[in-house]
Amino acid sequence: MSELTKITLSEQDIPTAWYNIQPDLPSPAPPVLHPGTGQPVGPDDLAPLFPMALIGQEVSQDRFIDIPGAVLDVYRLWRPSPLYRARRLERALGTPARIYYKYEGVSPAGSHKPNTAVAQAYYNAAEGTRRLTTETGAGQWGSALAFGCAQFGIDCEVWMVRVSYDQKPYRRTMMQTWGATVHPSPSDLTSTGRAILAGDPSSSGSLGIAISEAVEAAVGAVDTKYALGSVLNHVLMHQTVIGEEALRQLAMVDETPDLLVGCTGGGSNFGGLSFPFLREKLAGRMSPTIRCVEPAACPSLTRGRYAYDFGDTAGMAPLVKMHTLGHDFVPDPIHSGGLRYHGMAPLVSHLYELGLVEAEAIGQLECFAAALTFARTEGIIPAPEPSHALAATIREANRCKESGEERVILTALCGHGHFDMGAYEAYLAGQLEDFDQPEERIRAALDRLPTVPV
Ligand SMILES: Cc1ncc(COP(=O)(O)O)c(C=O)c1O
Repeated sequence: MSELTKITLSEQDIPTAWYNIQPDLPSPAPPVLHPGTGQPVGPDDLAPLFPMALIGQEVSQDRFIDIPGAVLDVYRLWRPSPLYRARRLERALGTPARIYYKYEGVSPAGSHKPNTAVAQAYYNAAEGTRRLTTETGAGQWGSALAFGCAQFGIDCEVWMVRVSYDQKPYRRTMMQTWGATVHPSPSDLTSTGRAILAGDPSSSGSLGIAISEAVEAAVGAVDTKYALGSVLNHVLMHQTVIGEEALRQLAMVDETPDLLVGCTGGGSNFGGLSFPFLREKLAGRMSPTIRCVEPAACPSLTRGRYAYDFGDTAGMAPLVKMHTLGHDFVPDPIHSGGLRYHGMAPLVSHLYELGLVEAEAIGQLECFAAALTFARTEGIIPAPEPSHALAATIREANRCKESGEERVILTALCGHGHFDMGAYEAYLAGQLEDFDQPEERIRAALDRLPTVPV
């Protein structure tokens, strides 16, 4: 077995194509519906929001899609990303498991999000878009898009969920440094924001509300389109560079994973890591268990309903079939801003229904404890979002300690936590609490799901 700690690829090894899982699915995912008519959407319905190239990728049945040269040129700034063997963590846990983590915090914005932000900015610029609007929770996606837009010379306007806007002022400055304009959401700049503020002037916001604001600002404005940082098929596909690299890196040290774990907000880092492995599994070449980890405060897979719902709070975004807590569900203000989304990617939801991936929910206290154990052994301070995957990894490593099994665990460390010191400070001061959602609150939000004609 290799003695390497850091398994690296050379710049020539950056994948040159994204993997599209759609043609390999045992059955197709249900169609996306128009929010007004409830009928399947066509390209023209989506054209006010997205450039045609991305609309094409959303429904493509091509197994691989070439990555444009201009996107690869930007990827070269940080890709390929390293795969680490977590030797110090293993030793501290006393586990016979072998733990690997794919680290995406080496990107300029500090997370996996630039893998799609750069691609989306490129395709928009190529089709003449002058301005992109978006939402951001933790600030990771907004900063990734700000960086991507700066690379291709387009303006970027970001609605940042109020609770993160207040908790993470330096993420805001980071976006502004790359040239973006940032608003707290809900804002008084859109009719959605004004309506929410009228009902609750101190609303902490949610990703669903911020999406509505960004969509509203894009629709009807000249040369402006909207970019989403997760959930959609093309976004998950852009992230598959993570899994494609990890496949090669594990092969370099002669390892095959028994378990993959990734945190799931909208599903993009999880899909990015796991889909290439799922392809191998479906082809019978390996058989890892693949597990999503979500926050107990926002448990869309483990406690939500698989139903058609709006992607945003105001009901302007298309209807997609997904595991959802209801489009107007506002999760408690946990510190993993990127995991506070009411729904889950349709592809991840579909795979969950098919039994090809599993899911568990973990409270934030266990996640922060895992993050500290990780930081004190491996050195890297994780973002609160991937601390969920680390908590699940540590659970599994402890199970291996009890059973004596030498399982190979692969996880996505999808971002660093350098801008999350407020969260760490609160945890260290004993000020964080776990939020377990009462059943009635989830049921009440699910009662307001839209009815659709299918
Ligand atoms: C570091 C990080 N991890 C994970 C997520 C969750 O998103 P996804 O499930 O699409 O990876 C976010 C979202 O903002 C994030 O910033």
